[in-house]
Amino acid sequence: MMSILTRPPGRPFPLSFAVGVATTLATLAIFTAPALSQGADAPQASGLAVGADLPMSHPDDILASCGGDPEAGRVHFEALCAACHTLGADEAHGAGPNLHGLYGRVAGSVDGVAYTPFLRAAGQAGLVWGRESLRDFLSAPEAVVPGSAHGDLPPVTEERLRTDLMTYVRLATTPPPPAPEDVVVPEAVLAMEGDVAYGAYLASECAACHLPGRDSASGVPAIDGLGRDEMIRALFQYRVGARPNQAMVTVAARLGDEEILALAAYFGAE
Ligand code: HEC
Ligand code: HEC
Repeated sequence: MMSILTRPPGRPFPLSFAVGVATTLATLAIFTAPALSQGADAPQASGLAVGADLPMSHPDDILASCGGDPEAGRVHFEALCAACHTLGADEAHGAGPNLHGLYGRVAGSVDGVAYTPFLRAAGQAGLVWGRESLRDFLSAPEAVVPGSAHGDLPPVTEERLRTDLMTYVRLATTPPPPAPEDVVVPEAVLAMEGDVAYGAYLASECAACHLPGRDSASGVPAIDGLGRDEMIRALFQYRVGARPNQAMVTVAARLGDEEILALAAYFGAE
């Protein structure tokens, strides 16, 4: 552990982190553009939104991001899918697999399900369920996985219906995040010292949103006055989605303990 913390500052910015922030900004741009606010069916400017919504687990974030009506979606699910699929954790499979934890799951990968070889092969070739792949699969199952057992089902092509359905499925299959107070920062982590210079380096990305001294009325609180331990706790909570804010959940999901300690040391030292 010590060797990690004494690494010299100024090394390359972790790519995943830089991508994360870019993704976040792109995602925010998508959400604030009124023409694109249909959520799941908005034409995505890029493939970024799939990655961006994976760490999301708080219902508020899911609702804001998916943009559908979950109650209408539930009715559609009952009518179109429930005969074969269950959604809750530990529920039995039906004629089709249980869909709990669907987002981020490799297609055809649940143990004990008698998938067709076609769906299994699609998963092995890299098909992962996310907003775009699911939308495509529901719209045209034969185009996405030729030969799958879904090929015989009517495609779900109506945009509003599909958005509502996917919003409901997303909510009902995503394990709930822990409560903020249940997110424990290990004492050993709190006892470690972060690398201030590395923190200063990382903090340049935070400045894209957090301007020094900016007040919470803007929606982006100032973080330079926040205490060290409080900052560490907040970032741990965002990282697992215990605090709902898609921008911060995405930012924090890219931070390792070392980065969090460095950022807290930097902001705490100001
Ligand atoms: C008649 C039964 C049936 C209905 C109705 C049905 N499915 Fe399926 N579904 C299946 C079967 C069987 C599979 C496995 C397909 C295969 O192995 O090729 C499957 C697979 C899936 C998968 C891939 C799961 C995985 O683990 O990779 C998703 C996602 C899915 N269905 C969603 C839906 C949704 C959403 C609806 C409603 C619009 C729906 N299904 C309606 C039977 C059904
Ligand atoms: C894309 C914009 C954006 C970026 C980039 C960003 N933040 Fe945030 N941050 C926010 C928003 C918006 C909030 C308010 C979230 C909320 O209401 O929970 C927030 C809240 C926080 C909080 C909680 C503050 C409090 O008073 O509870 C901390 C800590 C924080 N951010 C740290 C960081 C750090 C460290 C970075 C850089 C690694 C960063 N943020 C990058 C937008 C951003």
